[in-house]
Amino acid sequence: MPKILVIGASGQIGTELTIALRKRHGGDHVIAADVKSGHLQLNNNGPFIPLDVLDCETLQVQVRNHRIDTIYLLVAMLSANGEQHPQKAWQLNMQSLLNVLEVARVENIKQVFWPSSIAVFGPDAPKEHCPQNTELNPSTVYGISKLAGEQWCKYYHSRYDMDIRSLRYPGLISSKTLPGGGTTDYAISIFHSAAFGKPYTCFLGPDTKLPMMYMDDAVRATIELMDAPAKNITVRSSYNLAAMSFTPDELAGEIKEQVPEFEIIYSPDQRQAIADSWPDSIDDSCARQDWNWEAKFCMKGIVEEMLSSI
Ligand code: SER
Repeated sequence: MPKILVIGASGQIGTELTIALRKRHGGDHVIAADVKSGHLQLNNNGPFIPLDVLDCETLQVQVRNHRIDTIYLLVAMLSANGEQHPQKAWQLNMQSLLNVLEVARVENIKQVFWPSSIAVFGPDAPKEHCPQNTELNPSTVYGISKLAGEQWCKYYHSRYDMDIRSLRYPGLISSKTLPGGGTTDYAISIFHSAAFGKPYTCFLGPDTKLPMMYMDDAVRATIELMDAPAKNITVRSSYNLAAMSFTPDELAGEIKEQVPEFEIIYSPDQRQAIADSWPDSIDDSCARQDWNWEAKFCMKGIVEEMLSSI
């Protein structure tokens, strides 16, 4: 049985990933760690430790004390917040990864997971079916940190033969935690308005197409990637991952099917430029080939799930 540490367990991905890992391995085998306490479900079904991942010494002590052999690092400042605080975003996104990689090396950790993002792509990458290997010229500090992080993961794998795995998540849609400073967050906030009978003011224009995924699929992808035999993992930077792409107008239309009185108003802000710099859709054929990735949720399914769970 692995002994897992989830760092950033109170965040959007961390919350649902911790719950899924605990269902699988049992609560005591999955330690949730974060600077802030999280969702009630997280605190009730297994251990939680307060941890600032930027404090490398304490990280190492906790890894030792809990005999950790697998680490999921999910701490990050996302794209929109990162543009407000570029230096802080770089510091948090990079130093958290460097600390985990180094502690993992010294403590002989068996596996590390770290998320990358579609933000590694910039305006010169192909818009449609953006391939695994293409121009990587990100326009946000978040994207720059993810691109550099991918290279660090690859470096630690080739230099120290460590098993580090990563996914380039698209925009993730989930109901357990509120959005946290990303450009794709509109696709979550919209449901909080729709479910409470309020109009939604969208910070992206109606035709802004972006790659998106339901959290259940993202969590399953993460676990399937980590379960795959090491010999199948041909991408040691980070895998493209896809489920669907849609625009705010298309999402609002699907919501209206279920909530006919729902209204959306468009008022694009500085996040529009970030969204415009990202691909419309992603080619995830490497993930499909290497570890049989296949998304399950479509837009209609997401709308049904989100409206019933908020
Ligand atoms: N969801 C992220 C963001 O919008 C992209 O990975 O910043």
